[in-house]
Amino acid sequence: MNHKQTSSLFRVALKNPKVSLNKIKHFIDKQFDGTLPFPRLLRFFLFYGCNLRCRMCGQWGEKGIASISEAKDFIALDKLVRLLDEAAPHHPEIYLWGGEPTLHPNFQEFIHEIKKRKLTCTINTNGLLLERHCQAILENHVDSIDVSLLGTEQVHDFIVRAPGSYKQVMRGLSALSRGKQRPLINAIVTLSNNNLENAESLLSEIETNPAIDLTILQLGWFVPCAAGKGYEDRMRDEFSIRAESWRGFQNDDPAEKAPDTKDFLERVTNNRRYKKPILLFPDIKLTQVTPYFANHADLLGHSKCWTLYRGLDIRPNGDVVICADFPDYILGNIHEESIQRIWSGGKAKAFRESIAKNGLLPICSRCCGLFR
Ligand SMILES: C[S@@+](CC[C@H](N)C(=O)[O-])C[C@H]1O[C@@H](n2cnc3c(N)ncnc32)[C@H](O)[C@@H]1O
Ligand code: SF4
Ligand code: SF4
Repeated sequence: MNHKQTSSLFRVALKNPKVSLNKIKHFIDKQFDGTLPFPRLLRFFLFYGCNLRCRMCGQWGEKGIASISEAKDFIALDKLVRLLDEAAPHHPEIYLWGGEPTLHPNFQEFIHEIKKRKLTCTINTNGLLLERHCQAILENHVDSIDVSLLGTEQVHDFIVRAPGSYKQVMRGLSALSRGKQRPLINAIVTLSNNNLENAESLLSEIETNPAIDLTILQLGWFVPCAAGKGYEDRMRDEFSIRAESWRGFQNDDPAEKAPDTKDFLERVTNNRRYKKPILLFPDIKLTQVTPYFANHADLLGHSKCWTLYRGLDIRPNGDVVICADFPDYILGNIHEESIQRIWSGGKAKAFRESIAKNGLLPICSRCCGLFR
């Protein structure tokens, strides 16, 4: 990051003390071993379905494995509120995602309940319904929004496969920016072959958009067939389950993207043209971009999955998992047990023990859980 970006990141951090405090807690957590008594991060996969079909999405995209029969699944508000009541004394960070979380029929009531309990709340959204929910987001003081932007207008609409989407997201963002005390707004730009050439133009638009505070450039997650099969075998042998979620991220030729991605990142990092912070996720060095794509097994210095000991994901049918993007191993269901019991229960322990004893799973090397 250049000097201007560092100071603007500092300003953003000061303006959003709760979000910054969570980052600090997270950093401290990572220095210590052991499972926390209650998850630090509680993710709600709030609504199974989605109103978009983004090309690269492991759920609803070209290779996506989402099931149409579950598209309308969500947890009822009264149950969600009881989960918050259990969680609130432990002050976890709440992260809403999906599918598309803003489609939950009681989305506004739920964010009200989260913020009534003074929990930090981030919403990860495609942004289509931001305008509709703007007032509730502002009134309840939601802390941050991760909004997906995939290109300038034409490219974004091409990737999400819905004309008019970009304009709709922009209307939502400008409605939010009119609020006196608005959330921190992060543009999440998931890089793919479809937007690499356009991403610099997008960054220029972000620079001049008063609603957006910073950009996170996200390298796509992917699983080559051999690693996926290795994962399936291990989950069958150790836990007797069918583990096929990796197929949504199947890609056997990601290396083709490496040179262009590296060139692009070299051009934009430290470029004085950009004054707003631009962060890379996973947070790897430029010299690691080629191995990131070319050598799936390379852990790039991350040998431990933080999420195993710190985070849970609650799915629309009540199932609870640790691996949010690969929800094959179910720890329990919140319609049958408390979060606490699931977190410290036998299935969670068995999963952590398997990884401690036999090493990370073959899919872990390109999973967001590893790089948090
Ligand atoms: C699955 S979406 C769910 C939340 C919401 N629907 C959205 O699009 O923001 C979560 C994030 O994953 C990103 N994403 C989609 N496909 C991906 C992939 N193959 N690799 C990495 N990130 C991906 C999206 O761009 C989005 O920022
Ligand atoms: S909006 Fe999110 S969940 Fe929906 S298809 Fe796009 S990336 Fe996937
Ligand atoms: S890194 Fe591995 S163990 Fe951790 S969340 Fe991802 S798939 Fe699960």
